[in-house]
This record gives sequence, C-alpha cells and structure tokens, in this order.
Amino acid sequence: MPVDFSGVVPELMLAVDRAAGTPLGQQVQEALRTAIRTGRLRSGERLPSTRQLADQLGVSRGLVVSTYEQLLAEGYLVSAVGSGTRVADRVTGDAHPRAAGAGAPPADPGPRPLIDFGYGVPDLRAFPARDWLWALSDAMSALPTAALGDGATEGDDHLRDVLAGYHRRVRAGCADPADTVVVGGFRQGLTFVLGALVAHGIDRIGLEDPGPRYHDRIARRAGLRVSAVPVDSQGVRVDDLHASGARAVLLTPAHHCPTGAVLSPSRRHQLVEWAHRVDGVILEDDYDAEFRYDRQPVGSLQGLAPSHVVALGSVSKTLAPALRIGWVLTPPRFRDAVLAEKALSCRGVPQLDQAALARLIETGRFDRHLRKVRDSYRRRRDALVTAVAEHMAGASITGLDAGHHALLRLPADVDESRVVARAAAAGVAVRGVGDYRVTPDDDGPRRPLPPALVLGFGNVTVSEIRRGVSVLGRLSDPVPAPVPV
Ligand SMILES: Cc1ncc(COP(=O)(O)O)c(C=O)c1O
Repeated sequence: MPVDFSGVVPELMLAVDRAAGTPLGQQVQEALRTAIRTGRLRSGERLPSTRQLADQLGVSRGLVVSTYEQLLAEGYLVSAVGSGTRVADRVTGDAHPRAAGAGAPPADPGPRPLIDFGYGVPDLRAFPARDWLWALSDAMSALPTAALGDGATEGDDHLRDVLAGYHRRVRAGCADPADTVVVGGFRQGLTFVLGALVAHGIDRIGLEDPGPRYHDRIARRAGLRVSAVPVDSQGVRVDDLHASGARAVLLTPAHHCPTGAVLSPSRRHQLVEWAHRVDGVILEDDYDAEFRYDRQPVGSLQGLAPSHVVALGSVSKTLAPALRIGWVLTPPRFRDAVLAEKALSCRGVPQLDQAALARLIETGRFDRHLRKVRDSYRRRRDALVTAVAEHMAGASITGLDAGHHALLRLPADVDESRVVARAAAAGVAVRGVGDYRVTPDDDGPRRPLPPALVLGFGNVTVSEIRRGVSVLGRLSDPVPAPVPV
C-alpha cells in the first residue's frame, strides 16, 4: 500500500549532465524510466513535485512538467488529485533478482500453526500499548536536546537508577546504579558479559543441560569452551559443575529453562560456596522471576553473592521482546570489560525507549501491568493442568510454580520427536526437550533425557490451550513395539 506522505515532499536522487550533448528533458525522462525499470523506484512510490525536482536539478519547472506528462502517457506514472504523481503498478523491475539457493529468502515455512505453544513468548495482546505511548510521549517532551546525540555507553543514568532500584525492591538484589549497564535485551548483555569473562582469563563455562537454546553456540563464539552441567528437580547439579573445572556458569535459577525447576535453597548455598572456592562467576539469567504463583517469589541469587554474580534482566518476558531492552548488574571488577565489549559492538540502546521504560517503572505502570498479566498467566497455567489431566492420562506436568512455560513429561514409551512432528501436521507447534540439549566441548557421556514437551502458555488463550492439549493427547500414543519375525 502506498505510504501517505501527508503533503511532505519525498527526496529523489537524479542528476543531469550539462556537458553531454543530449537535451536536458530527454536526460530527465531517461533517468526516471531507468529508475523505474530497474526497481530503484517501485510501484506506488511518490515522485517529488515538479517544482521541487526542477529546483533540485536546476532546470525549468516546465521541463519537469513535460517530462512527467510524457511518462504519464507512456504508462510509467499515474497521477491523482491529492496524492501527487506516483509510479504506476507493475512497471517496476528488480535490479537485483535473488538467485535461487544462497541468499534467497528461506523456503516457505508452510501454514502458520493454529496453536503455538512456543517457548518464552509473553502475552503479546496484553502489551500495555497505551501506557507505553504515554511513557514515550512524556519522555519525549522532557528529553533535553543533548539526549538526541549518542548516549553514555553504560546507558541512560536515570534508567540505570530506576533499574537498580527495581532490582533491589522486586528481586531483593543488591544493585548499584554505577554497576548497571543498559543493553539491548538479555542476549546482547550475555555476549558482552561472556566477552568480559574471556578478557578476565576465564576460558570455560558450564551451561545447564538441558538449557536455553543456542547458549552453547553463543559461548563458543565468545571464545569459551562449554561444559554441559546436568539439571535435576532442584536445579543445576553443583557437584557436576565443580567436576567440570569451569569457572563460570550460566543459570536460570528463578524458573529453569526448559524444565521449570526452581533452584532450591540448598543448591543456592552450594553455588555460592562453589563461587567463593574457585573464584567463580555465576551469570544469573533472571528471566521469569516476576511470575510466581503459589509461593513467595525467590530473590535474585545476585543478592546472596554480589561480588560473584552477574545478574541479567530483560523486559522481553514482562513487556514484549520487540522493545529490546535489558540490563546487566555486574560486580565492579567486570564493569569496565563489559563496557568495553559494549562500546566496541554498538553505540547503545535507543535513548527515547530507555527514558520511556524509566517512566513506565517509576510511575508504577510496569508493576500494574505485571499484576494484570500474572493473573492471566495463572489462569492459563490452571487451564493447562486441567487439560493435561483430562486428555493425557499417562503424562505429568512440572515446572508450574513460575513463568509461562511448563514441561509435559510423556510416558517413557512415547517417541518425543514423532509427537512433535505429528502435532505440527495437526497445526499445533511445540518443541521437545531434546531441542534444548547442550553440545559440550568435552565428550563425556550425557544422560539421556526422558521424552517431554516444552509448552509455552504465555501467548495462547485458555481455549487454545484446551484444544491444543486435546490434540497432543490424541497424538501421544506409544510407539508400537517391533513385530517379532
Ligand atoms: C532463557 C531466556 N532468557 C532470557 C530471554 C530474554 O532474552 P532477550 O532479552 O534477548 O529477548 C530469553 C528469550 O527467549 C530466554 O529464552
């Protein structure tokens, strides 16, 4: 659909060559035809007004008027009262046709799933759009002109203050604004922190296995070797971490990804002890921490050992991934290295969005949003439990204390990948826990994982949950035993 310029004149780069023997009118016509044929100007795009193009090229307005008339007559252009002169439909070419194969867009992924139990997506329909617009506009009206330049590497001072306060107030952490760095979401923060660890001579990191997807690749890319550390119902196994020889570990203590286990108090203490003993660093991915249902929220690990824990937060799960804002609370000794990583990789997080997020949090609108979505996630979680009890007799569901995903453990004789494939064919998107395995750099034996599905319930409605689980129930029949020959 053509963009409405609301009377604003678009720019167009065209040039004429006065030294060439060709008349100027002919040159302008040919330049426009070529721009349209090669796709530089696309169907529906608006041309500058005749007056503006004449000024730009230093030619008479009459010359541009007759050029436009000629191209209108040839069918290259169309014009209508009120919408100016535009490129006609279906006359543009493509200057750079995509070759098949490399560089081509990915193959059509097929129809979108009807019900998507994708992990980690919050309720996008609940995004507090009105509050966000208010915060943006309030922030813009107070933004000093200087703030339109590049901001400080560590991020907006006021937002860092507000985030440190939030971490202390809501996560019982021990945060100092001076050691808070604003980043473009958790993953970006993680790459900066991993780079900082390498700069400090740390060469191996333990990752929860199973654990968040891609973290093994991200860690290797930063120059670290990876150990896979098993997770059980109490969270990461600290004795295995110790045995791995790693001096850093990345954890999801508030709600393990993907099993949903909450790191138990005894494991927390063991971890802190481990960190003191080996001068280790715990990277705390504090995602999902805001959504606790049946018990008191568990405070951030960072509060227990601020000099050994780097806490990473993000609004991707609480507001929306599209905002791309997160933060790193680092022990002072890693601060400069984190900032150096950030300075070399980007010029920062959009300044206006930072100011808007500060407004959202400090005025209580963020907390109000959390209360609202927490209730709706609780209802979805309860619907999931009921649906599983009704449709999947042999399965059990765990990891329900917090967050918006849970682990559906299938009967041992069910083939996880077969269920995933059959569910996809039936319009239900879900991943097996096998997709969350870590690929370590040492090739010690890895425990097999019993079949299970990771069900995100943040962005599906109660009725979608009921329908989706009934489909999964129908498809989760045991793999037939081989017929003896
Ligand atoms: C385990 C985990 N932590 C944190 C995040 C948030 O990452 P980001 O802030 O880069 O969106 C995600 C996103 O899905 C995640 O899976």
